[in-house]
Amino acid sequence: MKARESGMPDESMWSGFFSPDQTLAKLGLTGSCRDAVDLGCGYGTFTIPAARLVRGTVHALDIEADMVAATARKALDAGLSNVRSERRDFLAGGTGLPDAGVDYVMLFNLLHCDQPERLLGETYRVLSPGGRLGIMHWNYDPTTPRGPSIDIRPRPEQCRAWAEQAGFQLVIPQQIDLPPYHYGWVLEKR
Ligand SMILES: C[S@@+](CC[C@H](N)C(=O)[O-])C[C@H]1O[C@@H](n2cnc3c(N)ncnc32)[C@H](O)[C@@H]1O
Repeated sequence: MKARESGMPDESMWSGFFSPDQTLAKLGLTGSCRDAVDLGCGYGTFTIPAARLVRGTVHALDIEADMVAATARKALDAGLSNVRSERRDFLAGGTGLPDAGVDYVMLFNLLHCDQPERLLGETYRVLSPGGRLGIMHWNYDPTTPRGPSIDIRPRPEQCRAWAEQAGFQLVIPQQIDLPPYHYGWVLEKR
């Protein structure tokens, strides 16, 4: 089941909202990471810079075939052999990844889905002990140029609470500003 209001605008518009390298650095993804997962990879906006950084594979999962293809094509064009793109509905069927096998999960612009607890539970399962979860979402502000409707858009404290209820602990104690339109959290599976 595709997450509500998770369609994408043109890539040129989408990519203008982000500084992916800076975002990944602020959200605690480092070169010591082995395998990572990008849940709902979209155009691969974060998959590709993550793949340049990590020592292992980035699993790029998305329900939309064109998003998976766009990400795979970008990896090919960039000469990156450590991106594994897969069309998959992870809300219905999970990620298909083994328990505790990855060091980092990117959960970006997706926690407005109907089942955030389920998604966070699956995230917890696939992370290794000490593995990190990076959450990013649109500011709770109806004037942002994109993002889910404000009535389904989670507030930052809500994202943090869901993650803590799933068992995660904050690595960086405060909310991270990702200007101009986003915020983030970095959490860890202890
Ligand atoms: C708003 S976009 C965010 C893309 C990317 N995370 C980013 O921030 O650039 C959400 C993505 O999640 C995908 N998605 C939505 N529901 C999904 C599901 N059930 N399983 C896999 N992918 C899903 C959408 O197709 C879309 O590409």
